[in-house]
Amino acid sequence: MRKSDAVLFGAVGHPKYDNDPSAKVRPEQGLLKMRKELGLYANLRPIKLFDELLGASSIKPEILKGADILFFRELTGDIYFGEKGRRNDGDTAYDIAEYSRYEVERIARKAFEAARTRRKKLCSVDKANVIETSRLWREVVQKVALEYPDVEVEHQFVDATAMLLIKDPRRFDVVVTANLFGDILTDEASQIAGSMGMLASASIGDGTGVYEPIHGSAHDITGKGVANPLASILSAALLLDISFGMKPESAAVINAVDKVLKAGFRTRDIADATTPAANIPGTDAIGEEVLKYI
Ligand code: IPM
Ligand code: MG
Repeated sequence: MRKSDAVLFGAVGHPKYDNDPSAKVRPEQGLLKMRKELGLYANLRPIKLFDELLGASSIKPEILKGADILFFRELTGDIYFGEKGRRNDGDTAYDIAEYSRYEVERIARKAFEAARTRRKKLCSVDKANVIETSRLWREVVQKVALEYPDVEVEHQFVDATAMLLIKDPRRFDVVVTANLFGDILTDEASQIAGSMGMLASASIGDGTGVYEPIHGSAHDITGKGVANPLASILSAALLLDISFGMKPESAAVINAVDKVLKAGFRTRDIADATTPAANIPGTDAIGEEVLKYI
């Protein structure tokens, strides 16, 4: 990967490990190590609702229409990478959450820069009423904000954010948050886009970028040919744009996905009661349709 200009990544995980708390090796370790070693500190997760999927979400269409959020999830710090272990003969467990000033600063800058190219609103999410790393987070974001007077900044607690995302998703433009909060909030926000199967992500740092769908490996549907390939395809679009600066090509991929949805094709996760069975042709066929429009 280090020798590559960009990486398109699938998904890892297996239920065999999820249900075995004593497993010493799990596929997720590989993913986390990759993020850490490639220095991928900024995870961009765009939540964009294709109009055709308004009905696929469990949120009311009039609340959703026009929602367009860009998450910046910090990806190489926090409780994910702090010291963890057991003491007291294994009866007590701990995970240390840690952030340094520079780690918050660099992700905040990326988020502010992005906000400048959008609606110029940034929401920083933390739990500064309780957590010390969050207090540092807020302090640093407030300081970086002085360099971006044209961007309107608000600070929200993570619990309130979880509520506001469902209540009024359109109030958000760019959201920046820590690793664990970002993990949780983006799964929640995927419902704004209709399905986890629609959400692409870009992980960037100072070198090689990694592009991957936000969903996991979905072993419950392995081999059935019903997985939604669009999140992976949209991740490739992000790759073209961000790592290679190929904007028209990236737009062509996104446009092709849009056309396929407009033509009525769906995978199971984004189909609804009105979708005819013939329009749910399966993973490969959806991929072929996208290819035709590209
Ligand atoms: C994600 C995933 C990963 C994470 C897991 C698979 C370790 O949920 O990319 O959001 O928690 O970061
Ligand atoms: Mg996750």
